[in-house]
Amino acid sequence: MSKEETLQALIDKNAEAELGGGQDRIDIQHKKGKWTARERISALLDENSFQEIDKFVLHQATDFGLDKKKFPGDGVVTGYGRINGRPVYVYAQDFTILGGSLSLAVSDKICKVMDLARKNGAPFIGINDSGGARIQEGVSSLAGYGNIFMRNVMSSGLVPQISAIMGPCAGGAVYSPALTDFIFMVENTSYMFITGPQVIKTVTHEEVSAERLGGSITHNATSGVAHFSGQDDQQVISMIRELLSFLPQNCREKPPEVEPSDDPERIDMGLREVIPDSPRQPYDMQKIIYSIVDNQHFFEVQAKYATNIIIGFARLNGKTVGIVANQPASFAGCLDINASIKGARFVRFCDSFNIPLITFCDVPGFLPGTTQEYGGIIKHGAKLIYAYCEAVVPKITVITRKAYGGAYIVMSSKHLCGDLNFAYPSAEIAVMGPEGAVNVVFKKDIKAAEDPAKKEAEMIEEYRKTFASPYRAAERGFIDEIILPEQTRPKLIKALESLKNKRDRMPEKKHDNLPL
Ligand code: HXC
Repeated sequence: MSKEETLQALIDKNAEAELGGGQDRIDIQHKKGKWTARERISALLDENSFQEIDKFVLHQATDFGLDKKKFPGDGVVTGYGRINGRPVYVYAQDFTILGGSLSLAVSDKICKVMDLARKNGAPFIGINDSGGARIQEGVSSLAGYGNIFMRNVMSSGLVPQISAIMGPCAGGAVYSPALTDFIFMVENTSYMFITGPQVIKTVTHEEVSAERLGGSITHNATSGVAHFSGQDDQQVISMIRELLSFLPQNCREKPPEVEPSDDPERIDMGLREVIPDSPRQPYDMQKIIYSIVDNQHFFEVQAKYATNIIIGFARLNGKTVGIVANQPASFAGCLDINASIKGARFVRFCDSFNIPLITFCDVPGFLPGTTQEYGGIIKHGAKLIYAYCEAVVPKITVITRKAYGGAYIVMSSKHLCGDLNFAYPSAEIAVMGPEGAVNVVFKKDIKAAEDPAKKEAEMIEEYRKTFASPYRAAERGFIDEIILPEQTRPKLIKALESLKNKRDRMPEKKHDNLPL
């Protein structure tokens, strides 16, 4: 072969590999509204930054005619590149090749980039679109999943791991995404479940569509398995790029800073109007969040799930913060099982990756009832306590209104080593709300009174005056400063600045034992 022919052979081989399972299958993929693996990677990464590796890997299976079904690269595209100028490692399963099913060769390719990501301290993004374990490969394919799970866990807390579900993700295959930090799903073209609709029908006679069982809406709003939902591949990919812009490359780095373009001294007199006069009236905590963050830009996480707690990323004077806030407009901001788990996982993520936590507290308590008790609110609520206790990143709290009972303690109180704890003058910091407290402590007095209703109202008023304020807590140093609502942004920015060199750590141990 001439030199020219040798070079041409490589060009031809590359072109063949880049065609995946062939033009017909690419057309089917497009007809479903889905991009191909390479189209997804090229949209995800900075222009021309993708470097593909293992392009000519072939599976080694021979059973069931697989020796005649070989495609260069097999069912996944892997490599590295840049997002927002910073290195990342990626894989995208190629549904056009044997349904993107996972062979041992596919798994080896994925594990190779996962190892590179971990050793080089760079985020890792997996794009999933696969029929699951390659059935013809049997246990080899299962081994492949095990190898991936092992690496997901080794990388957990070391580098950010992000999963995009852009097609089917079924059976045990769902567990790799579940072990990563964030799951994105595409509406109508992606689904995740342990057992599909057919198996469910056979075993339990329940009839359910794939979309209802494990589509994007289900996992974003009902199960809480997913964190983000986009209307198509394009939108999900731009959301992943944005998420990464808030995060450090690994647990040893601080999050990236952007040039601030919003006045750090900006005050918003409108914040005085947000908290209603009546403590019973709900309000939208989002108004406070959007008002105080840089450029009113808040990147909310799990926006449709457990809406009684709000979590997400924002910037204050150009620096990334993680925001956790009770939402009085949903279940009065009560903490329940789902909200506790949602909050706890987010707090732990932020702590893993050096992202300071800003907590807004307006919480009347844990949600009462048998559903919650039987569901284990005790152990799930403990997760949120645990997460805040062990978090050593800067922790700043603003109590806007109610901070009652155990829920007061949970929400990054001084007692869980909150660094700087602020309260609005409207804050009510007490064991419980006035109505409940009076009916426990003064039950007999109220019953014995000439006019029990009047007596009750008087006692409520007295209790409110005594405890339903931030001043008792401030007297004991449990609140560092009582601030006017309009000062929230400048106060938070100055607090963050003062805590920027914070160093603290939990006692040395093998690992903790988070209540599960
Ligand atoms: C081998 C597979 C495959 C698989 C799909 N294909 N899934 N090949 N192993 N798991 C092949 C098909 O044979 C077909 O090849 C091509 O991919 C496209 O598949 P279609 O069925 O034509 O596509 P579509 O109609 O879009 O349906 C997609 C699908 C369906 C819903 C994913 O293929 C399906 O149900 N697959 C099986 C899913 C499954 O049960 N997987 C095992 C899960 S258990 P040809 O050449 O005919 O076009 C699991 C265990 C993991 O993964 C355990 C980890 C611990």
